[in-house]
Parts: sequence; C-alpha cells; structure tokens
Amino acid sequence: MSRVSIIGAGYVGLVTGVCLAEKGHDVVCVESDAAKLATIRAGAAPFHEEGLGELLQKHIGHRFTATASVDEAVAATELTLIAVGTPFDGKTIDLSYVLRACDEIGAAIRKADRYHVVVVKSTVVPGTTTGAVQAQLEKSSGRRAGAGFGLGANPEFLTEGTALKDFMYPDRIVIGGIDERSLEVLAALYTAFGGVPVIRTNPSTAEMIKYASNSLLAAMISFSNEIADLCTAVGGIDALDVMRGVHASTYLTVTNGNGARAQAPISSFLEAGCGFGGSCLPKDVSALVAHGNARGLDMGLLREVMTINRRRPGRVIEALERGLGTLGGKRVAVLGLAFKPDTDDVRESPAFPIIRALVEGGAQVSAFDPVANAPARRALAGVTVSFAKNLQEAVEGADAVVVVTRWKEFEMLPDVVAAMDRPPLVFDGRRMLDRAAFARYDGIGL
Ligand code: NAD
Ligand code: UGA
Repeated sequence: MSRVSIIGAGYVGLVTGVCLAEKGHDVVCVESDAAKLATIRAGAAPFHEEGLGELLQKHIGHRFTATASVDEAVAATELTLIAVGTPFDGKTIDLSYVLRACDEIGAAIRKADRYHVVVVKSTVVPGTTTGAVQAQLEKSSGRRAGAGFGLGANPEFLTEGTALKDFMYPDRIVIGGIDERSLEVLAALYTAFGGVPVIRTNPSTAEMIKYASNSLLAAMISFSNEIADLCTAVGGIDALDVMRGVHASTYLTVTNGNGARAQAPISSFLEAGCGFGGSCLPKDVSALVAHGNARGLDMGLLREVMTINRRRPGRVIEALERGLGTLGGKRVAVLGLAFKPDTDDVRESPAFPIIRALVEGGAQVSAFDPVANAPARRALAGVTVSFAKNLQEAVEGADAVVVVTRWKEFEMLPDVVAAMDRPPLVFDGRRMLDRAAFARYDGIGL
C-alpha cells in the first residue's frame, strides 16, 4: 500500500483521497482554504456529492487525514498528486495554482532524504508536466527530475454527481511517467483496480488523452445543438425524433450477447439542450484551442464547438420571446441552477446567462434548484432574482417556466403545473418532459 499526499481537496482531490483510502492506501490531503479544511476535518463533505460524506466519515483520522501543510504531507508520503484548479483565464490556461503547489512540494522535497514522485492529476495542456511543472519543481527542490525525484501525469475522468462510482470503477487508468521508476510508483497506486485497462505512456500523451476525451464530448453536444436549432428553424421536425433515428444506427446502439439492443453510453452526449457548463468542458476546450493557436493551428472545429455553446442561452431567450411576446413585466421561473443534476456545482452554469438576459429584458425571475440555491445566490449577487424554496413556490404565478437542468425532481412538473389556475408556457431546455402533459409547451429542437 502506498502513502500518498494530495494537494487540493476539491471535487477531484477529495474524491480521489477518500477512494484511495477505501482501496487501502494512507492518504494525506492538503487544503489551503481554511473553512473547507475545517469542514473536512470535522468529517463532513464541503460540497454535494453522493456518498462522499459517508466515505469521509469512515476514513477520517484513520487512513485519511487532512492538513494545511504541504511540507508535512510530502514528508509523510512517497507520492504526491497535484489536484488543484486549472481555470481558463480568457486567453490561456491559468497554471498559477499548479505552479504554487510545485513551489511548496519542491521545497519539501529539498528537505527530504528519500525519493519522491510528483504527479499532475489536474487537467493541464499537453507538455505542461515536462515543461512548466518540471522546471518549477527542479527550481524549488534543487534536484533534477528523474535522478532527484520522479514525475508523471495521471489525468482524472470522473464526472460530478457520480464521482465516487466513477473513481472506484473507472473505465480506464491513464498514467504517464518520465521514466520507468516514476511509472512503477504511480502504477502501485492502482494495483487494487483489477481488470481496468491501464494506459502507460509519457506525460504529454496522458495530458492529451484527457483533452481529446473532453473535446469529443463537447463536440458531440454542440453537434446535437446545431442539428436541434436547424429542426426548429425548418419547422415540423422534432429533434428528439431525429436523434432517435440517429441512435438506432449500430454505431450507437449495441446488441448484447442475448440479442437485446441497448444505446451506447456515448449517446448521453448527444442530447441537445441549453449548452454544456461546468468547471471542465468549457474551460478545457477553450484552453486546447488557445494551446493550438499558440502553435500556429487554427483549431477551427473546437473553436466553433465553443461558439455554438455560447449561443445556447440566446436560443432559450429567443424562444421565450416568441412564446410570451415580450419579456417585459413577465414572471419567469428558472428551474435548475447547478450546471448538471446531482451536484451543487454552479460553475459556468447555463442558467446564469439565461437569468441575466431575462432580467435585462425586464422579466421577474424566480429561480430554484434542489441543492444549488446557496452557491447560485452568491454567483448572482447584484442580479435581481428571487430564490424559491421548492418547485411549487418557484412556478407560482409564472407566465413561463424554463427547465435548465435535468433534475429528476422536475419530472413532477406536469402535476405542479396542472394545479395552477393559469397554465404557464413551459420551455423544456433539456427535453426531459412529456410535451403532451402541458397545455403550452415548447422546447429545444421543436
Ligand atoms: P476545485 O476548485 O474543486 O478544487 C481545487 C482545490 O485546491 C480547492 O479546494 C483549493 O482551495 C485547493 N488548492 C489550490 N491551491 C492549493 C495549494 N497550493 N495547496 C492546497 N490546496 C490548494 O477543483 P476541481 O473541480 O477538483 O478540479 C481540479 C482539477 O481537476 C482541474 O484541473 C480540473 O480540470 C480537473 N478535473 C475536474 C473534474 C471535476 O469533475 N471537477 C473532473 C476531472 C478533472
Ligand atoms: C465532464 C466529463 O463527462 C468527464 O468525463 C470529465 O472527467 C469531466 O468533465 C472533467 O474533466 O472534469 P462533468 O463536467 O462533470 O464531466 O459533466 P458532464 O456530465 O460531462 O456534463 C457537462 C455539461 O454538458 C453539463 O452542463 C450537461 O448538462 C451538458 N450536456 C451533457 C449536454 O448539454 N448534453 C449532453 O448530451 C450531455
């Protein structure tokens, strides 16, 4: 079993930490945010993720500890995973958190008397580990990569909402190392994940696998959105029926051993809607485009994937204007503030540009999310919007109801709307509801 430190106890770092503890490793998580650290130390999850609190409670103080000190963590372990944020700053990937972590890790390695392996788990553009990260670690440690310390990249593929399951039962493990010794230490972390394909490669290839994976998902979503918009523009075509026909292809529907046909999981990225949000797809595609541009490549396809995505909130607003005549003075309920269901993460949520445009157009907005009202309130500080306690309160007296996030709870909407005196226009931004259940219904791709 390994002794591993993890820098950054966010969605990736904390999930990785408790899951590796569950697999039998000794884990020390380092978190610089004092409030988050205190919550974790008290055995509570600092964000909404199914099962996280329970697993944290099980291991905290035993195989899992949390500290503010990188120095202490590195000294007690043989491997450090960097899992800090890598935002897009509008022009390029912002590596400041990663490089600051490298400074602290390097300083600790300088004092240590044994070999230590540093691994980048954060999503970083290809070439970063053996470029900026290696240079910073060599500077701060006073040692050479390879001889003085090991180095690698181990991108993470978990999805928020199902993060623990994704980590415990991964579809692949990608490990990139600068040499065999680094790869061996990194591979030892995953020996208890039997049967999972392990891709052993160099750090830059590992980094590229992560971006290629996320870019493919984003491209499929934008493709579906473009087709859906064309269905609306032509008229008389429902994009859902079109996609049903597309999915029937044997490329997208697999036949099981018993002859039953089942949609391939990739089909879940062919759903037209309000656009992709979150802390990953938008920033990763943007960072890759910038990375390509800096090397003289146009990156036209992925650039357009982002352009199509940025237009999504506008499409919702156009449809509402068509349905309501004008937004001025209308009451609009916006359902779903998290960027996707089963999380309270509101980073890059498509709900925000929709709400801002509604308010600018003179509408009164009532917003509701089953778990993300509080972070949304902070993100929308200064915008005149009221937050409802529940679905019923959100839609009360509404002229229009917009579904932005595919929360299971919103499947109750037909009953809630049926009890209203005046039926509102329901705009289904995720096409998750039965259109026949509403007197006035519109949606993406109709
Ligand atoms: P996050 O913002 O939730 O967490 C990062 C944490 O690191 C924060 O709690 C922050 O306080 C802490 N931190 C920053 N610098 C630190 C330092 N020097 N010492 C100690 N703590 C420090 O970010 P996240 O969503 O977990 O993403 C982390 C990385 O993983 C990103 O590169 C992201 O692209 C990638 N990723 C994220 C997901 C996801 O679903 N969120 C999935 C796969 C990959
Ligand atoms: C995504 C990837 O799915 C993960 O594999 C990856 O590890 C992660 O990014 C990452 O690198 O951080 P995540 O952002 O948690 O995971 O969520 P997704 O389920 O991919 O959804 C992203 C966004 O796309 C959501 O806003 C969702 O509503 C939207 N989406 C998804 C669509 O609009 N249409 C679809 O068909 C699918």
